[in-house]
This record gives sequence, structure tokens and C-alpha cells, in this order.
Amino acid sequence: MVKSFYPVSQPQIVSVFSPAKINLFLAVTGRRADGYHELVSVVAPLTFGDELTVEIGEGRPETGGQFSLECDDPQVPVDGRNLVLKAAEVFATATGWKAPAKFRLAKRVPVGAGLGGGSSNATAALRALNQLSGARLSPAALMALAAGVGSDCPLFLSGGPVVIRGRGEQVEALPAAAARRLRGRSVLLFKPGFGVSTAWAYEQMVAGAPRAYISAAEAGRRLAGWIEGQADAAELLFNNLEPVVFRKYLALPVLLEHLQVRFGLAPRMSGSGSACFALLPAGARVEELKAAIVEAWGPVSFMQIAAIA
Ligand code: C5P
Repeated sequence: MVKSFYPVSQPQIVSVFSPAKINLFLAVTGRRADGYHELVSVVAPLTFGDELTVEIGEGRPETGGQFSLECDDPQVPVDGRNLVLKAAEVFATATGWKAPAKFRLAKRVPVGAGLGGGSSNATAALRALNQLSGARLSPAALMALAAGVGSDCPLFLSGGPVVIRGRGEQVEALPAAAARRLRGRSVLLFKPGFGVSTAWAYEQMVAGAPRAYISAAEAGRRLAGWIEGQADAAELLFNNLEPVVFRKYLALPVLLEHLQVRFGLAPRMSGSGSACFALLPAGARVEELKAAIVEAWGPVSFMQIAAIA
């Protein structure tokens, strides 16, 4: 009996919110010996995301696997390629967790978007299993496990805007005064029908080096200038993956420039794309904005209003 693994007081089912993220500032500063890239980024989770539920007691009877995954989006792989299952295996190995469990993912965040959907789902799986296990892992241990699953996973343990460094695994909270300039800000997310592979985007940085990178010193100066100053969130926006991605995916810069000229916005790409975002000022002409996006990218475009968490 599965339930006999746990005291009856332990919950048997847990649901966690799995937010999307945007990179407000992304400086890729160079390539590391391990093939990953060194970066400095300000990343913020959003109020928009997926919902992940995990229930103890049902694994994958057909394969004898300990964990199974169902998803309401047929485009999302539900086998070992999905980071939810990878995270669950990593959790089981680290903690000795033996019970079978079934994950259900209500997918809202588009894939291949630079919105961190897969990484967020993996971190949600770690959080959910840790809750079910009665918090076997400390926050620091969870952070270390998350870093092993994916570069963008640890940031999702924060709950608010953070600065990430290294390949993304070093996470520090943004000073409170700086975070206040971001939290609650309304953003429009928008993505064309195609996605961009993160690995491909970083490879283009290598091909375009050294001009594609900005130095760590310059990135640090820019970021410190914004953190220590009083400037609005709009002044922070930066992403040096844009030029290499824009060179191939021309639909992105064409629309971003149009939105800048016509609506006075400063839209940016998030992460390695293809999703973009614009900070919305009070009174933004949202319906006109959405119509302009559909006109440029067609009715398959994804659009979502969210707030910075
Ligand atoms: O860590 P994750 O699997 O999310 O990264 C996907 C790919 O993006 C990596 O395999 C690597 O090619 C690239 N990447 C990188 N530097 C980073 C993060 C990701 O080169 N800091």
C-alpha cells in the first residue's frame, strides 16, 4: 500500500503555481570552458503561469516507472524529455523518496518562448514533492537540486525579481528598493507562432563573437547604475541575445520597432525568445496593441497580460 509510506497527516495531493518569467536585463558576457555561457540577468516571475498537481499513489504502471506525467497540451512531451520527470527523479535520488506519484500539468505558458516554462515546471515539481515529503529538503538543498536540473530552475524558488549570475544558478534577491520599481508592473507578453531554441541562440553568440558579447565589467556597471539609481523599470531593459536572434527571425525586430514608433513602448525579447514583452504604462491602448500584433504575426500569436510578481 502506497499510503503506508507516510503518516496519514501528510497531504497526498499538492498543487503548485508554476510562473512564467521574463528577463528584464540579460547580459551574456562570454563562453565558459564547460560550453555554457556566463551571464548577468535580472529575471522576474510573473503572475501568469502553469499549474502543476502531484498526487501520491499512481506511478506509471505500464512501464513500472515511479513517476508519470499528464498534460492538457498535446505538444508538451510527457516522457523523460520533460523536466518535470527529470526533477522528480533527481528529488527521489537525493531524498530516498520511494512512493510513486502522478503529475498533472495545466499548460498555459508557450514552449520555446524564453519564458522559462519548462524550467519553472521542474522547480514546481521539486517544491511539490518537497511539500508532500514533509519538507525533507532545506531551501538551500532545493536550490542546489534545481541548479542541477536546469540553468533557469533556481530562480523560480525566489518568488520575486532576482539577479542571476554564472550560468544562471547563482541567485540573489534584488535590493528591496529596486524590486519595488518592478513588482506589480503590468506587462504584455506576445509570441509569434514559431519558437526559438535556447541552445541555438547561444550557439549564434559563439559564431558572432567577440562582438556579440558585452564585457562582465560593462554589464556590472549598467546593472549597478540602475539598481543604485531611481530610474524606472523601462531604463533597465536590455538583452544582447536580441541581435543574433533578430538576424534570423526578422518578424521580431520589425514588429518591436513598429510598436516602439506607433505606441511609444520599449518592447524587448525575453531570454532567447521568441516571446517578447512590453511594460504597459497606465492607460496603454491594449486592444490596439493586440490588433497590431495579430496584424503583423497572424492569429496564431500568443498574447497575455500579466504582472511582475
Ligand atoms: O540549462 P538549460 O538546459 O536550460 O540550457 C539550454 C541550453 O542553452 C544549454 O544546453 C546551452 O546550450 C545553452 N545555455 C548556455 N548558457 C547558459 C544557459 C543555457 O549556453 N547560461
